[in-house]
Amino acid sequence: MQDRLEATQRAVAAHLSQALAPFGDGPVTQAMGYAVAGGKRIRAMLVIEGARLHGVSADRALWPAAAIEAMHAYSLVHDDLPAMDDDALRRGQPTVHLRWDEATAILTGDALQALAFELVTHPEVGSGEVRADLARDLARAAGAQGMVLGQALDIAAESAPVPLDLDQITALQAGKTGALIEWAATCGARMAGADPTPLGRYARALGLAFQIQDDVIDVTGNAAAAGKAVGKDAAAGKATFVSLLGLDGARCRAATLVDEATDALSMYGKDAETLQQLARFVISRQT
Ligand code: IPE
Ligand code: IPE
Ligand code: MG
Ligand code: MG
Ligand code: MG
Repeated sequence: MQDRLEATQRAVAAHLSQALAPFGDGPVTQAMGYAVAGGKRIRAMLVIEGARLHGVSADRALWPAAAIEAMHAYSLVHDDLPAMDDDALRRGQPTVHLRWDEATAILTGDALQALAFELVTHPEVGSGEVRADLARDLARAAGAQGMVLGQALDIAAESAPVPLDLDQITALQAGKTGALIEWAATCGARMAGADPTPLGRYARALGLAFQIQDDVIDVTGNAAAAGKAVGKDAAAGKATFVSLLGLDGARCRAATLVDEATDALSMYGKDAETLQQLARFVISRQT
């Protein structure tokens, strides 16, 4: 799994820099390159491995893989802004609004979102119908019923008079982190015209486990290893999976979810091994 993840990291980095090459070297383009650099590329890996399961080549899958990483990078640039989480460190580097300025960070996020749609609708991805379906579902996953909704609920939770309960946190997560992860995991099946249901089940369990681990890292991690500030959720008085379940409870829930995720792919037999290992990696990561 690790070697495939590293190969994906290299391929996605090359693909994104190629995509940005015609954009000139203005500050927004430079900040876009900066914002998409680094990252574990878990979402890209979901696209490429989901595609491999259905006989779709990595060359074709690289377009949506790069698209989802551009979309994710946009969400991080905006998430770090002073009006949102007000963070100084991302992927071990100063955040875009500190390295440049807030206006550049806002525009960089906007442009990365647009780039995601440019990449996912590239002719190599598939027929016009497949590309239109993927683009519409990416819009849904990223927008006001997906990631943006989750982010809005997350921000609102900071000033809520009563902390959110487990059902509310789970619903928030499904938007904030879950929607893009589900789009990524089901993309390859949809490129192949295959049934995306098993990968959808895998992704919903994995997305939740992913967010639980993000909350665990916020409590147990250190900024140097995580590449971002930690201790922010407790300082903001936010309910998280850790505050609601306790550290052991949260870890236990994440492990159960990873079992669910791996079981969801049992029909694929050995072919699904990499995605199953990726699920285990997601809850063991410290970054
Ligand atoms: C972090 O995502 C932000 C959340 C959605 C919780 P990742 O942990 O996947 O971040 P990178 O892409 O590896 O930096
Ligand atoms: C960010 O969630 C989720 C998105 C950007 C959609 P967090 O605010 O928990 O992510 P980190 O902890 O800053 O990476
Ligand atoms: Mg946030
Ligand atoms: Mg944040
Ligand atoms: Mg977090």
